[in-house]
Order: sequence, then structure tokens, then C-alpha cells
Amino acid sequence: MGNDSWNVLVTGGAGYIGSHTVLELVEADFTVVVIDNLSNAYKGDSNVKPECLLRVEKLTNNQITFLPCDITNINELRDVFKKNNFHCVIHFAALKAVGESCEKPLEYYKTNVSGTLNLLEAMKEYNVKNLIYSSSATVYGIPEKLPLVEDMNTGNCTNPYGKTKYMVEEILKDLCISDKAWSVISLRYFNPVGAHPSGQIGEDPNGIPNNLMPYIAQVSVGKRKMLNVYGNDYDTTDGTGVRDYIHIMDLASGHVKAMIYQKTQCPTGFKAINLGTGKGYSVIEVIRAFENASGRVIPYQIVERRPGDISASYADASVANKELGWQATKNIDDMCKDTWKWQQNNPNGYKS
Ligand SMILES: NC(=O)c1ccc[n+]([C@@H]2O[C@H](COP(=O)([O-])OP(=O)(O)OC[C@H]3O[C@@H](n4cnc5c(N)ncnc54)[C@H](O)[C@@H]3O)[C@@H](O)[C@H]2O)c1
Repeated sequence: MGNDSWNVLVTGGAGYIGSHTVLELVEADFTVVVIDNLSNAYKGDSNVKPECLLRVEKLTNNQITFLPCDITNINELRDVFKKNNFHCVIHFAALKAVGESCEKPLEYYKTNVSGTLNLLEAMKEYNVKNLIYSSSATVYGIPEKLPLVEDMNTGNCTNPYGKTKYMVEEILKDLCISDKAWSVISLRYFNPVGAHPSGQIGEDPNGIPNNLMPYIAQVSVGKRKMLNVYGNDYDTTDGTGVRDYIHIMDLASGHVKAMIYQKTQCPTGFKAINLGTGKGYSVIEVIRAFENASGRVIPYQIVERRPGDISASYADASVANKELGWQATKNIDDMCKDTWKWQQNNPNGYKS
């Protein structure tokens, strides 16, 4: 089936998940327009396109349309919609650092909530009513039980970032109730890690990484001395926190499957879908897997628990399988191998 008839707007498409998804969309024959304000993406030497998209173009042998645009400015968004005929929007653009969101809550509500409202307003004005939204397992708050299933309670989030994801889901539910023409799929990601197997695109955090895998990767190449493991007295197999890690290419293909589902099944209303593997790994297990993949020792020390951290989180991924025909195909060894390749090839991220 050719997908060339669908024209997709990808907001935040120069980011980590966005760039890998753009690659998968282009390979599946969708026409893609990327918007991004480059607040968390490396501009590179070209004044035209960010470095990651130049690399996606090389990998796919295709041109990608990039338009600088800030979603907090509705007029910039209107301009994008005026010039294009979209069938669907994939909305990645957001601020995503949990710790920073506690220090700068207004910036998080402005970008993640007001920015999304601007996008919805522009979509409504131009009658584009198919949306795939980047949500997060964080909307489940402190889990009632595991694995996490889509119809469990959400809310009760412990930080402003999580609250913005929860609030936007609530807004999207109300929108779908008010107008039956909307089709919204809210993909609740577990912990995206890894890189494209070429080692050409990957995660390029600004400053000190907030997440485990990029931190381990930077320790492996000597950019950071030692990993802090926050707590070893949780109720888990080895006492360290357990998370469901998902390979970035599986996550990207989940978006393509969601879009094909919207295109072929024409669902309406709001639907939340978990994207995870369904299996959790402890911090120590991830360290060991990375050591195996890289042949390097990862020095670490146990420190105090971080406030707000939960002991374990993993998905029930059966809805994605049933509705989208999607399931994760890559395991923790693939995740570590591809992270290592990206880190080795690009010790300073896209700047190198
Ligand atoms: N990475 C994760 O662990 C994770 C987990 C769950 C959910 N998510 C969500 O997935 C989405 C993508 O995450 P990511 O890891 O790729 O983050 P990222 O920071 O790499 O990508 C986000 C992109 O949005 C852009 N952006 C930020 N503010 C903008 C604005 N006002 N206007 C236009 N563009 C703007 C940034 O420049 C960046 O390129 C986010 O919505 C995030 O909340 C991420």
C-alpha cells in the first residue's frame, strides 16, 4: 500500500524521537513536513536544516521539508497550515526534563499545554482532525498495580512535566467528545532508548543527561566519571529501580502503525495506547547489558533515592498489538548495542 497520498505535519521533528520517526515515515512513503524551534536540537552548519534531518535525508535518500516554527506562536503555526494540506499531525514538540519542570513550571505549561492548544486551534481552523500525540507512562502517576493498562486511572503526577502530559490528554478527550470528527491517538511511551542501527542519528542531550541510558553512554566514553544509581532498597530483584525500556526504532515504527491505522480504519474519538515492551529491567541489569555491548566497565555508586521516583514501571502492550498490529522487536542488547554505536561515532553528539 502506498502512503504517498498522506501529508503529515511533524512538530518537534528535529528532536530525538521526532527524527527517528521522520525517517520511518519517509521510508513508509509518507510525505513529511517538519516544524521545530530548535530549542533542543543542534542547528549545525547549514542555515537551512538541523543536522539530524540532514542525516535522515542521507539515510533515506530523500528530501525533507523543514520549517522553523515555534508552537507558542499561533500565527507561525497558521502560516504552516496555510501553505500545506495536511491529513494528520504527529505532535512531539514539548519540553521534557522532569527536574527542570519543577524549577520552571510556567515554561513547561506554556510550551506543552498552551503550545498544544495553539496547535489544536490551527488544526481546527484548517480542518485537520487526525492527531497522534506524544504522551508518556508518567500519566499513570504512582501505579496502582503492574503492568500498566490503558484504562487505569491517570493523573496524580508528581511533577509539572507529568501534569502537562496528563492535562493535554484531558483536553484531547474533551475535544473528541465535543466533535466526533476528531481522531486522536495518544501514545504513552515507556522509556525510549537506543539509536538508529547506522549510528548516524541518536539521542543528543544538552548538558547533563537526565536519563539513564545516555548517562551510561557518556560514562562509557569517559565524558562523565561515574554513574549515580538512585537507591538500591526498592522492592525489586536487586533493589534498583525497574523500567520498561523501548528501542527508539520500535517506538518510531509504532507511530507509523498508528498513522496507517488512522488512514485505513478511520477511527474517531480519543484512544490511549501504551508503547513499551512489557518487560522491565533494573538499573543494574541495564549497566551489565551495556558493559556487554561495549566491552567497557561502567563505574557506578549507589546514592540516595530521588524524591518522586517509583520502584517499578512496565507496560501491558497488548492494546498496541491488537489495535495497531505493533509489537516491540528489539531487546535490551539491541538497545545497548545501538546506543554504543551512536555514542562511539558521535562522542559529542551532532556537534562532532
Ligand atoms: N524521551 C523520552 O524519554 C520521552 C518519554 C515520554 C514522552 N516523551 C515525549 O515525546 C516527545 C518528544 O520527546 P524527545 O525525547 O524527542 O524530546 P526532544 O527534546 O529531543 O524533542 C522535542 C523537540 O521539540 C522542539 N521544541 C521544543 N519546544 C518547541 C516549541 N515551542 N516550538 C517548536 N518546537 C519545539 C525541540 O527543539 C525538540 O527538537 C515530547 O513530547 C516528550 O514529552 C519523551
